[in-house]
Amino acid sequence: MLTEHMTLFATAAFGLEGVVASELKRLGMREVRAEVGGARFQGSMADAFFCNLRLRCADRVLMVLAEKECRSFEELFQLVRSIPWEELAAPDARFNVSGKCARSQLMSVRDCQAITKKAVIERLRQHTHRDVFPETGAVYPIGVSLHGDVARITLDTSGDALNRRGYRTWNGEAPLRETLAAALVELSPWRPGMPLYDPCCGTGTLLIEAAFRQAHRAPGMTRAFACEDFSFFSRAEADALRAQVRADYEPERIHDIGGSDIDPEALELARRHVRQAGLEGRISLSRQDLRTLQLSGGEGVFLCNPPYGERLSDRKSCEKLYRELRLLKERHPGWSLCAISSDPAFERAYGRRADKKRRLYNGRLECEFLIYR
Ligand SMILES: C[S@@+](CC[C@H](N)C(=O)[O-])C[C@H]1O[C@@H](n2cnc3c(N)ncnc32)[C@H](O)[C@@H]1O
Repeated sequence: MLTEHMTLFATAAFGLEGVVASELKRLGMREVRAEVGGARFQGSMADAFFCNLRLRCADRVLMVLAEKECRSFEELFQLVRSIPWEELAAPDARFNVSGKCARSQLMSVRDCQAITKKAVIERLRQHTHRDVFPETGAVYPIGVSLHGDVARITLDTSGDALNRRGYRTWNGEAPLRETLAAALVELSPWRPGMPLYDPCCGTGTLLIEAAFRQAHRAPGMTRAFACEDFSFFSRAEADALRAQVRADYEPERIHDIGGSDIDPEALELARRHVRQAGLEGRISLSRQDLRTLQLSGGEGVFLCNPPYGERLSDRKSCEKLYRELRLLKERHPGWSLCAISSDPAFERAYGRRADKKRRLYNGRLECEFLIYR
């Protein structure tokens, strides 16, 4: 059966491919290889579900059903028709086809989507001897992507992107995506036994993701995935994996995670998100100006996403704040400071070169993640 052994692909934001590949290796996946846009690996349907539950930094887990050079619509049609859709889809399956094309001869995304859908139906017609496809049942999110004339046909096992953990229902000003926040926690020098503090915590994303990691909580523990509705999905296997995830979660492990913000509305959102993540009382939050913040305790990590200004006047006040971050670190000699910023003036305003830097993307915004030890 195709779904026992297949090629899977965990998609990732630009710059996070290696982080996701490392996560997959830690989760015990086989033949993991980082590529542009994510990491490829081998596994079963149960592995795909397991990764949906546990991956912290990936966006989606895709089944790669076919991959081949295609320079004409006929070649694309034949490629899609070669996939055993009759093994994958229930009689009432609803096929939603999304597409993208980059640097390929087949340039019309719409036509590629239409050809893909036509080939799926044609294959089913031939192999099931049915003529009617009501498409009233479970959604099968099919992807057709052409990159440099190589077509890749995928089935998305995640559905909603994996950053949708279920705890964030209100967005504050410029919140970090959960998957990027988890990656910053991973890339920082913080390890789960140490104190972690976000001095401009906004809606609390970094703090919640760090707490999840400290408590061994799988980020997908409380949400559903598209693959759970696929006809070949094994409910019994999935129930066992979910039970294991719940058994691994130890909220009492959470300690020394806290944050503050100057804005009471942002803090109100942070409190809601902490509550919705089931972490009430486990993360300390307070209203404070980072310019006067003084923590007790000898060692730890400041991890933050300070504001960046789009207008010149805002930029000036942000640059003053970056200088204040340096003073904050100097008031806490045993602490490291890590910040993600899209402002190219960050290092100059902070007044010192970072010990380590990494280029990342917050949505479409090019950023640097800077670490001062
Ligand atoms: C880019 S947002 C942080 C977003 C956050 N990472 C999240 O996921 O929601 C920057 C935050 O810095 C806060 N801030 C600005 N000046 C501050 C100051 N002097 N002290 C503390 N917080 C400040 C803002 O209120 C804002 O919430």
